[in-house]
Amino acid sequence: MSFDADWLTLREPADKAARDERLVEAFARHLSGAAKPLVIDIGCGTGSTLRCLAHAVPADKNWLLLDNDPLLLKEAERRSEAHAGIALRRHDLNDLVGLPLEDAAIVTASALFDLCSEDFSARFAERLAVCSVGLYAALNYDGRIDWSEAHPLDETVVAAFNRHQQTDKGFGVALGPKAAARLAVLFGDHGFRVETGESPWRLSSDSAPLQKAFIEGFRQPLQEIGGLRSSDIDDWIAFRLAAAEKPGSHCTVGHTDLLALPV
Ligand SMILES: C[S@@+](CC[C@H](N)C(=O)[O-])C[C@H]1O[C@@H](n2cnc3c(N)ncnc32)[C@H](O)[C@@H]1O
Repeated sequence: MSFDADWLTLREPADKAARDERLVEAFARHLSGAAKPLVIDIGCGTGSTLRCLAHAVPADKNWLLLDNDPLLLKEAERRSEAHAGIALRRHDLNDLVGLPLEDAAIVTASALFDLCSEDFSARFAERLAVCSVGLYAALNYDGRIDWSEAHPLDETVVAAFNRHQQTDKGFGVALGPKAAARLAVLFGDHGFRVETGESPWRLSSDSAPLQKAFIEGFRQPLQEIGGLRSSDIDDWIAFRLAAAEKPGSHCTVGHTDLLALPV
């Protein structure tokens, strides 16, 4: 599955505003006491996690950004030229053994684990446990979307979208909305101290371009997963695109952040 740099750029301010501050502070405290020198951001896209967390990372730490998409890596490289201590590498995360964890103080990820499968997440937790490396995984979609202006098909559409979120996104059957809850259990089983926090997007008409791109992103999944007439999909999307522009309207998209630290 590939991601568009423009989409990642559009969502970055909403992601930044949504991140659970308490977990970011706990992430910073962990790093200030960590001896190992590296923060590894997996599925880095254009480097949004680095830009959002750079203030919380001590100056003696370096970043390693990993993604399997060369175009996104190139954009991440371009956008991180001003930062010191950053390396970027093409890496398919399905190669878990090849993850260079030896020098890692922590692994970070944003908007990634809802794409991942139970099996991948279990093997990932095991790999981090063996190396005693923690995980900060933010912005895992939790399946809840609310709009201030209701449409009769909202519930049906969100249920269909969430079913599609649990199809294969390159790691086997995706966890989708269950990602944060499953990560909490998997890391807890390895004795990690796990904290979670809600990180919903709270979008007003000021964020109409993001809302509209998000809604347009429903079309293909709804067509693929079935269960809705094409005309109903068209009507629902048209209604939502118009509603996104209306002053006073708002939309909430649920996410969960997670911090799992070895004890
Ligand atoms: C939703 S985007 C999030 C990007 C970035 N973390 C952010 O918050 O803007 C998911 C990212 O995971 C990457 N990704 C997906 N499958 C991957 C894989 N098998 N190996 C490495 N990266 C992968 C995509 O290329 C994309 O950059």
